Amino acid sequence: MSALLRVEGLSKHYGRRLGCADVSFDLEAGEVLAVVGESGSGKSTLLSLLAAELQPDRGQVLFRDANGEERDLFALGEAERRLLLRTEWGFIRQDATQGLRMSVSAGGNVGERLMATGARHYGKIRSTAIDWLGRVEIDADRTDDTPRAFSGGMRQRLQIARNLVTHPRLVLMDEPTSGLDVSVQARLLDLVRGLVAELGLAVVIVTHDLAVARLLSHRMIVMKEGRVVETGLTDQVLDDPAEPYTQLLVSSVLAA
Ligand SMILES: Nc1ncnc2c1ncn2[C@@H]1O[C@H](COP(=O)(O)OP(=O)(O)O)[C@@H](O)[C@H]1O
Ligand SMILES: [Mg+2]
Repeated sequence: MSALLRVEGLSKHYGRRLGCADVSFDLEAGEVLAVVGESGSGKSTLLSLLAAELQPDRGQVLFRDANGEERDLFALGEAERRLLLRTEWGFIRQDATQGLRMSVSAGGNVGERLMATGARHYGKIRSTAIDWLGRVEIDADRTDDTPRAFSGGMRQRLQIARNLVTHPRLVLMDEPTSGLDVSVQARLLDLVRGLVAELGLAVVIVTHDLAVARLLSHRMIVMKEGRVVETGLTDQVLDDPAEPYTQLLVSSVLAA
């Protein structure tokens, strides 16, 4: 069985500025990969490419679809790509206002994703949505509130429910806990860790926080100036970094 995701030689420039260059990795089903590196190292560029929000200059992203067939992300038609990203894949963004529909109720935010998979029965959609709100610790009596009225931590939990309700096989996460209070971060990370294990999700998580990588990921890649400088099992990379740059990163000499 081939990998769930095969990323080969992805490169992206913004004009003459390098976003990322020659990034390659495989991701197996159920595997959590952390992408770490200081600000400007190309982490978000890589994730935007994986979400097909950017077109690469070079390289490809191959993924195994629900039927077990390997597909080329950038060769999909627009409609097919949108459906994939709304159902089989998820994307949890750093800025919840970009990952949620802020004028739609919490229940609607979750129900909308279900409808993208063909659900039509209002009562069932609503009860599944309420069930998922409960799983991310949002009380049922907030179902009809819009996320505008939610705290930062609640918004992130709502994004998680919205993304996971369709049982995606791959979830992309861009700094899902940064910008939250430390105590809120810890609770959110706990929740994410539990759901990832329970659902057997494959995850690519971008973070500048090595503690997040340590807690959630099996493997990690370290980026610097758009390139991968080190890759390996998370504990191995963090406990015994091979590259001087990773050693600096681990010893917190570099500002995130
Ligand atoms: N829209 C853009 N236009 C021009 N340059 C960009 C754009 N987005 C990112 N970059 C540049 O690409 C490089 C990588 O940025 P980014 O992927 O955002 O890094 P990170 O997420 O690791 O902070 C940086 O030099 C950044 O300035
Ligand atoms: Mg970024």
